[in-house]
Amino acid sequence: MGEGISDYTKFTVDLRRHMWKASVEMDLRRLIWQIAVMGKYISAKIHESHRKLAGFKNIYGEEQLTLDRSADEILKNQLEYSGFVREYASEERDAVIQIGKGDEKYFITADPLDGSSLVDTNLSIGTIIGIHKESILAEGKKTLAAAVYITYGPLITMVYSAGKGTHEFVLNREGEYVLSEENITLKERGDIYSLGGLRKEWTPAHLKYIEFLEKEGYKLRYSGGFVPDINQVLIKRGGIFTYPALKKSPNGKLRLLFELQPMAFIIEQAGGMATNGKQDILSIKVTELNQRCPIYIGSRFEVEKANEFLANG
Ligand code: F6P
Ligand code: MN
Repeated sequence: MGEGISDYTKFTVDLRRHMWKASVEMDLRRLIWQIAVMGKYISAKIHESHRKLAGFKNIYGEEQLTLDRSADEILKNQLEYSGFVREYASEERDAVIQIGKGDEKYFITADPLDGSSLVDTNLSIGTIIGIHKESILAEGKKTLAAAVYITYGPLITMVYSAGKGTHEFVLNREGEYVLSEENITLKERGDIYSLGGLRKEWTPAHLKYIEFLEKEGYKLRYSGGFVPDINQVLIKRGGIFTYPALKKSPNGKLRLLFELQPMAFIIEQAGGMATNGKQDILSIKVTELNQRCPIYIGSRFEVEKANEFLANG
C-alpha cells in the first residue's frame, strides 16, 4: 500500500464494534454511537457557516451564535428521537428540558460547540457530552455513566469513556469512526501546560504554582479551546490544563456540568486527575445548571502539585 492510502484489506475496529467488544451496555452504546453521528452533522454546519463567516462576521459575533444554536438544535432534535434520553441540558439553554416520554434511562448534558469563537481562525473546536444515569443536579460521580467529546480539527476525532477506559476514534473518509487509540493512559507526569485566565487576575497561590511549572521547564500549549486543549494533554499522555479561580471571578470560567464533569470523567478513566485545587471535580455537588468552577486537570503529578500549592497559598 502506498503512503497516504488507507489499507482496507486490513481489519479495522469501528466504534460500534469496540463498544460491543468492551461489553458497554446496549442502550448506552447505541446512544454513544448516535452522538458520534451527530458530530458529523455538526461538522457539516461548521463547514456551511465557515463559508458565510468569510464575508459576514459582525462585531457581535452573531454568526458564531447561530452556529452554537444550530449545534444545540441538532443534538436536541436527534436525541429526542433516540429513544434513550429523558432530559437534555445544554449550555445554550436556561433550563433542563424533558425530551423523552419519562421512562428513558439517560440524562444528557451538552456543550454543543465549545470554543465556537475560534471558528473563524480555523483552530479546532469541539462538542462535549455527559451521559448521566440520574437527573443531573446531583453529585457527579454517582450519575455519570459515560462521557464523550468530539474534536473538529484537521480531522474529526471522538473520545469516549463508558467507565471502561478512555478510547479515541478518527472519522475516516468513508464516514466511519475507526479506533485509533485504545485504553489511553496518561504518564504520572507530563511536560506541557495550558493556562486560562489573565495572569494579572491569578491568585498568589496559583501564580506560585505556575512559576513552579515554569522552573521545571514545562512548555506552554494553549489554544483557547477547551476541547483541543484537553485533547492535547490526553493524546500527549500528560501535562496540565488549568482555568483557575480569578480575583474577579473566584469560580473561574468553565462550567461544571457541561464542560468539567465530562472531561474529568474521561481524564480519570485515562489514569489522570481533575480537581478544583482542593476537591475532585466529580465529587463536587452541583446546585445550579450554570455553576462554574476552577479546574486543574491532567496527569497526577501536576494536579497533586496544584492541590499542594493551593493548600499552602
Ligand atoms: O467555553 C469556554 C471557552 O471558550 C473554552 O473553550 C476555553 O477553554 C475558554 O473559554 C477560554 O477562555 P479565555 O478566552 O478566557 O482563555
Ligand atoms: Mn464551552
